Amino acid sequence: SPSDPDLVERARAAKEKLGDKVFVLGHHYQRDEVIQFADVTGDSFKLARDAAARPEAEYIVFCGVHFMAESADILTSDDQKVVLPDLAAGCSMADMATAEQVAESWDVLTEAGIAEQVVPVSYMNSSADIKAFTGKHGGTICTSSNAKRALDWAFEQGEKVLFLPDQHLGRNTAVRDMGMSLDDCVVYNPHKPNGGLTADELRAAKMILWRGHCSVHGRFSLDSVNDVRERIPGVNVLVHPECRHEVVAAADYVGSTEYIIKALEAAPAGSKWAIGTELNLVRRLANRFAPEGKEIVFLDKTVCFCSTMNRIDLPHLVWALESLAEGNLVNRIEVDKETEAFAKLALERMLALP
Ligand code: 13P
Ligand code: SF4
Repeated sequence: SPSDPDLVERARAAKEKLGDKVFVLGHHYQRDEVIQFADVTGDSFKLARDAAARPEAEYIVFCGVHFMAESADILTSDDQKVVLPDLAAGCSMADMATAEQVAESWDVLTEAGIAEQVVPVSYMNSSADIKAFTGKHGGTICTSSNAKRALDWAFEQGEKVLFLPDQHLGRNTAVRDMGMSLDDCVVYNPHKPNGGLTADELRAAKMILWRGHCSVHGRFSLDSVNDVRERIPGVNVLVHPECRHEVVAAADYVGSTEYIIKALEAAPAGSKWAIGTELNLVRRLANRFAPEGKEIVFLDKTVCFCSTMNRIDLPHLVWALESLAEGNLVNRIEVDKETEAFAKLALERMLALP
């Protein structure tokens, strides 16, 4: 438990023994008990950049989910080892696009005669295989903090975008930030023949959105927004772009986890905020800003942690750090060379976005 002084001391001692050999990254959705040992915290974009900027660390311990550890492995050198403290920390959204399904979708686009006009843009929340597919077909990766810039870039390269795997981030960015209409978007369902779309529908679309979503952010509804506005007059509603379109459309502010933190840092004393993102982060921010007189509540009435983010707890972190300190490399995440080469191409296109 977070208050277990024995575990806290063991984590501290193992980290001290490892010294500069280890660098611990923590995503904003991680538990407090884990975040206290992170050398750096951030959103997916910041953590990808920070992992790449630590060539002296032999071990990168990634407190986050599997696709983030894969991305860190792709962006670091071959002799650096990336460790995920619990291998079961996946992401249900990333799992919604498999390599086979995506290859099949490309055949569908080819048969409709549009593959040459399509640029794939894949959300960071995807497997290394999907990132490799993206790199191979001239596309880029994006995160929730640079999705607009990624789409701007993609529409300079081609006329259409295949957006993987989060339909909400794709739709919200297209409609809210790029001035497209909902009619410019179609949803490709990998469980239906031809994605459930006719060739004419595919030809007419500008944004082909993969039918994936985040189950955590999917729980916020228009009712959650209306309820909180009634409950707390004058409240500012701030949500993550993984939320459904009607939630984003009804919110006052929309942005990545890093954006959410910056917005609350800049908020005046006495302001009230309802936040639509993962609960570990919202609780941490509520506690941090309460002394400054900022009232911060969770957007929904029922709690929602990301269960896979939460798999990384203090016992797993202690186990990983102590194993490394004893010279045992555990839970290494290693992407194979061919996948890595193409995935890196796509990730580097993202890092080079203006
Ligand atoms: P960001 O940290 O990029 O906002 O992403 C949120 C998320 O859901 C990560 O899984
Ligand atoms: Fe995946 Fe959603 Fe959890 Fe992020 S919050 S890791 S998108 S399931």
